[in-house]
Amino acid sequence: LKIDASPQSGRKIPDHLFGIFFEEINHAGAGGIWAELVSNRGFEAGGPNTPSNIDPWGIIGNETFINVLTDRSSCFNRNKVALRMEVLCDPVGCPDSGVGVYNPGYWGMNIEQGKTYKVVLHVMSSGSLNLSVSLTSSDGMQTLASNNIIASASQVSNWTKIEFQLESKGTNSNSRLQLTTNHKGVIWLDQVSVMPTDTYKGHGFRKELISMIEGIQPRFIRFPGGCFVEGEWLRNAFRWRESIGPWEERPGHFGDVWMYWTDDGLGYYEFLQLAEDLGAAPIWVFNNGISHQDEVATSSIAPFVKDVLDSIEFARGSTNSTWGSVRAAMGHPEPFELKYVAIGNEDCGKPNYRGNYLKFYDAIRNAYSDIKMISNCDGSSRPLDHPADLYDFHVYNSANTLFNMANQFDRTSRTGPKAFVSEYAVTGKDAGTGSLLAALAEAAFLIGLEKNSDAVEMASYAPLLVNTNDRRWNPDAIVFNSWQQYGTPSYWMQHFFKESSGATLLPATIQANSSVHVVASAIICRSSEDNSEYLQIKVVNFDNEPVNLMFSVSGLQNTVNSSGSKMTILTSSNVMDENSFQEPNKLKKQQKLLNKMTGHCRKLGNEEDKCGRKKM
Ligand code: AHR
Repeated sequence: LKIDASPQSGRKIPDHLFGIFFEEINHAGAGGIWAELVSNRGFEAGGPNTPSNIDPWGIIGNETFINVLTDRSSCFNRNKVALRMEVLCDPVGCPDSGVGVYNPGYWGMNIEQGKTYKVVLHVMSSGSLNLSVSLTSSDGMQTLASNNIIASASQVSNWTKIEFQLESKGTNSNSRLQLTTNHKGVIWLDQVSVMPTDTYKGHGFRKELISMIEGIQPRFIRFPGGCFVEGEWLRNAFRWRESIGPWEERPGHFGDVWMYWTDDGLGYYEFLQLAEDLGAAPIWVFNNGISHQDEVATSSIAPFVKDVLDSIEFARGSTNSTWGSVRAAMGHPEPFELKYVAIGNEDCGKPNYRGNYLKFYDAIRNAYSDIKMISNCDGSSRPLDHPADLYDFHVYNSANTLFNMANQFDRTSRTGPKAFVSEYAVTGKDAGTGSLLAALAEAAFLIGLEKNSDAVEMASYAPLLVNTNDRRWNPDAIVFNSWQQYGTPSYWMQHFFKESSGATLLPATIQANSSVHVVASAIICRSSEDNSEYLQIKVVNFDNEPVNLMFSVSGLQNTVNSSGSKMTILTSSNVMDENSFQEPNKLKKQQKLLNKMTGHCRKLGNEEDKCGRKKM
């Protein structure tokens, strides 16, 4: 491997080359990074017609003691459904533990000893209220924390918001919330929330999962989908306007592509906030009037264009603007740094795409000259027939194909819009549920993107997250349940690229027989640990056999201090090896100190030849 480090030979890699794509898929948000523990907190998931299915809520006590149904008595206009429970027994006749309802959260709530949880609920009662609110084990037998709400009839004869904190005296990753009473009368409940008080930057995100995301230092976040943005039908597409404002007033919606309900606690505002907190550029993918099954005609697209302009004003407008003031009222008077929008997702071939696209493009360009717009049409092999700043490129394929796609952008024009490889992954049998083989091929592909980063501006793996209780797509980078998480090899692979964005790419040439499947790149980058400048060489060996690698670096200007050099490896004895909840760190990047350089050959450990050549 020959590396030319002379100053004139380097080329700057775009500042935002590697980032993340967050999609509300696999319960990545609801029951994932969004820390809300109650599922279907507003009882809206069963639809607007009542009585409705209250799943996953359950009833404590049988019909002799309690009648539970939904009605439309909520005080919130955009989500009228509320829970009505008529208690038929009194303290003498009710079961000892009382009657009521419980919520198991998203496959069990993770309640931890010593941690505090903020409970908010809206309640109304036909008489005085004596309601026990507790966090318990899944069978209700073990109480971890509890509080009694006692109120006179006049205090709760209208909808009343009640808030308090519970501190848990035990740990149980499969807990539930219980609301019980043994007093006769009718109680209405609505918008019931339990959140840990300790969330990422206090903004409502599950800390351990965000810390994994932070680990790969994403320079952008594309959100909120994917197909989630399109919807199977437009009526179920993501609507930013319905996802902002006080959480109690959000109607929530059924994502009909990935087939689950979200209360939209994680809404447009929260995505922008997360981007800011991560130091990542937000990339807002909006619906362009096209879903999987239906489309808005270009002649009728104007209201959708206005809606998107409003969304940009919400993110960027001054506090005096209509939508900027709504953002300010939510707690963020400063504008968010929204500089990229994607006009739809995977819609290029659809009949109305180009027509709709141009309407959005012209309106946004007219209002915001600095916003970069991303087309769904692939411009990697021929020029686009419409204006765009970037074009979207998705690839899901076998390991061999992705490895070979390291050269995908070698011949792409350098003059037109740049590529945004917003979804890439090895899928199918090569991937298992996250194999080393997949990660190796993806790493080779990314090395190709680094080398072609004068034609590729950004890239992100997909999907990012999966709750194993509802795996809708396989594989994914970060795997979790209510209380555990681990990274697949594809997650750890991304750690190797976290210092690439904004670094300097050096010419690096492999001189080997063409049967050797090795790709490599070299960059000068800044350490995220101590800000020092250093040379980073990445090598992927995609062969079944170890190879001997010798590398030489020419053109270095300064005296090189190689004594602290490190080698980071991601490997395993079997390429199909995976991580799991049982063995979360079976494969993860490992760091070793490199021995000193000898002449122009480095020693790379024990298995080396006399010139320091190492079997990899
Ligand atoms: O990443 C999963 C899905 O794959 C995305 O929703 C979609 O854009 C693509 O087809």
